[in-house]
Amino acid sequence: MARVNENFLKLKSGYLFPEIARRAKAFMEAHPAADVIKLGIGDVTEPLPPAVIRALHEAVDEMARRETFRGYGPEQGYEFLRNAIIEHEFRPRGVELDADEVFISDGAKCDTGNILDILGRDNKVAVVDPVYPVYVDTNVMAGHTGPADEHGRYAGLVYIPVHAENDFVPEVPNEHVDLIYLCYPNNPTGTVATRETLQKWVEYAHEHGALILFDAAYEAYITDPAIPHSIFEIDGARDVAIEFRSFSKNAGFTGTRCAFTVVPKTVQGTTSAGERVPLNSLWNRRQSTKFNGVAYIVQRGAAAVYTPEGKQQVRQLVDFYLENARLLREGLQSIGIDVYGGINAPYVWLKTPGGLSSWEFFDRLLERAHLLGTPGSGFGASGEGYFRLSAFNSREQIEEAVERLQGVDLT
Ligand code: MLT
Repeated sequence: MARVNENFLKLKSGYLFPEIARRAKAFMEAHPAADVIKLGIGDVTEPLPPAVIRALHEAVDEMARRETFRGYGPEQGYEFLRNAIIEHEFRPRGVELDADEVFISDGAKCDTGNILDILGRDNKVAVVDPVYPVYVDTNVMAGHTGPADEHGRYAGLVYIPVHAENDFVPEVPNEHVDLIYLCYPNNPTGTVATRETLQKWVEYAHEHGALILFDAAYEAYITDPAIPHSIFEIDGARDVAIEFRSFSKNAGFTGTRCAFTVVPKTVQGTTSAGERVPLNSLWNRRQSTKFNGVAYIVQRGAAAVYTPEGKQQVRQLVDFYLENARLLREGLQSIGIDVYGGINAPYVWLKTPGGLSSWEFFDRLLERAHLLGTPGSGFGASGEGYFRLSAFNSREQIEEAVERLQGVDLT
């Protein structure tokens, strides 16, 4: 009989979002009349921007004609998209990249998991706690951890706690680590990292020969002009960091699938013999072998994000969700709940009232207000006593959610 990867058996329960979906389904089956508003998973609700739709249609038509039909594309992505990304995302921020440092993919989640293919087994891995669960679970699957303790913390990982008391700013570790996951604007807390904070991490990475895996999937939500959008805006970062980006949360591609990962040619790893190896060539090799690229049609849709009308429409979409976040924030504050995030991010992170645990608050919110959110403890032990609400929804549903929050006793 085929042997399984037993590391999977170490994983604590299901992935967080399927677990929430399971509980929500059970609640809805027991209360079929309840009109549950979903503020749990950060999935967009508004249609794709018209400029993207037009580009998708045109690309479909190209596929219908022999002269313009395309088969396999480059595994790394078409140059038209890689160049547009460099020109519109990075050059205006003073970051110069070559096209072969940008790899188009089907998702930042996939890439943050897949990147482990090119990294060794013995790296000491640090995550901020609470954390986007994918960073932890993919390391568990790859056998980089021991078993989990009763709080869900896996042996071998370094957890860096963030909470209201330290303003959600992760301290650089006072021990050696090789691999660091940072996500800014942060999922789940909705907080951002200043230039100074990122500079400290880049300096740490230089001192320790560490690699920063920087997830910037929510960068479009940054409203504060002082906050960096890319880790590569920080001096020295291109020697120590890989950045993950996505079209999901800005242009609404969660179901359309397009993202990209920047692996500068200057970022290196080491062999056990101490030989330095550029990670760019390893990632290129990995992608060429295991991935056949994103559909041409979808890449044309993504490139339309950078047309003048595309840019304006994406800005409107992001502003729409940011306004939702503001309504949620202020609605929660009006009932005396402490809230964080939601200004430079589509997530509002709140302190559960009355000392309720995250899952107790989840049940209470569902039962009393028919609102579905995400328990902070699902993102890590330090998320206990916190709760996440997503601003991805229609205005009508957000306004209704705020009314319900204001109309029930949640303590
Ligand atoms: C979330 O709710 O945290 C996001 O939907 C996760 C993701 O983008 O994969």
